[in-house]
Amino acid sequence: MKGIILAGGSATRLYPATICLNKHLLPIYNKPMIYYPLSILMLAGIREVLLISSPRDIEGFRGIFGTGERLGLKFSYAVQPRPNGLAEALIIGEDFIKGDSVCLILGDNIFFGHGLPALLRETVRSMKNQGGAYVFASNVQDPERYGIVEFDSKGVAVSIEEKPKRPKSNWAVTGLYFFDRNAPEIAHAVKPSGRGELEITSVNAKYLGKGALHVKPIGRGFAWFDAGTHDSFLEASKFIATIETRTGYMVGCIEEIAYAKGWITKEALLEIAETLKKTDYGKYLIRAVGGEE
Ligand code: DAU
Repeated sequence: MKGIILAGGSATRLYPATICLNKHLLPIYNKPMIYYPLSILMLAGIREVLLISSPRDIEGFRGIFGTGERLGLKFSYAVQPRPNGLAEALIIGEDFIKGDSVCLILGDNIFFGHGLPALLRETVRSMKNQGGAYVFASNVQDPERYGIVEFDSKGVAVSIEEKPKRPKSNWAVTGLYFFDRNAPEIAHAVKPSGRGELEITSVNAKYLGKGALHVKPIGRGFAWFDAGTHDSFLEASKFIATIETRTGYMVGCIEEIAYAKGWITKEALLEIAETLKKTDYGKYLIRAVGGEE
């Protein structure tokens, strides 16, 4: 399975902070926002990653991740000339996906919860066995802002709408999507919505129509953020700071995950830690492999 992170857009809701800067490179507490969605792909066991961003910002990401080798990953990069919508990621990424299944994650989505790695692994397994599409739904208070899914009394998804004026439920579809090999073809057939975007919800609706959209509600044990405004940025940062300080474990620490997966050696991790040793982040990496600070 391949992984795509979509990290373009213009982030006008975060102006003036994002006038010259891509929002996914801004920190959520102690690390760039982009680390969090990347950590989700890594926890799902995905090692081939395509990062899509705007022409202005793509080099910034290349500067951070390079070939990906440092993390035991293989990174590719592609440009989205204009923010034409999330489904365009599947068109831009078509050659990269090359008939494989794909996990698409939005660069501003942050997930935290007990059992998340197991949930991701289980989804990858189901995907391999059954195909179709898998998405996750989270209960929200402001359903007009999201893709909203409606369930019947048996918990089966029956409708999905993007930013509905009259939402049929409070279940928002999060920005983490697992698709089988048919997704690029489906995306090609999507027409721009009323707001002029190729909506990922239209792709999901197509799978729903074929009876192939699996929606997993994520319950009370999970926290999900899409950090697009000043307040949601701060809220996510405060949440991560609280969890990390209280538990002593980092959230979204990509180097630690790469090491735990056996994708990089202890020496490689310590080499990275050496460059960060003035920070708590670097000290944490050293502790993670039982080294001395
Ligand atoms: O976060 C979950 C929600 O994400 C879903 O519930 C919605 O169905 C989905 O449409 C999306 O809604 P948003 O309004 O939050 O999407 P937004 O335009 O904020 O973009 C999400 C991320 O994708 C953000 O990090 C910017 C990036 N992006 C967005 C667009 C439209 C791109 O890189 N390219 C794009 O063309």
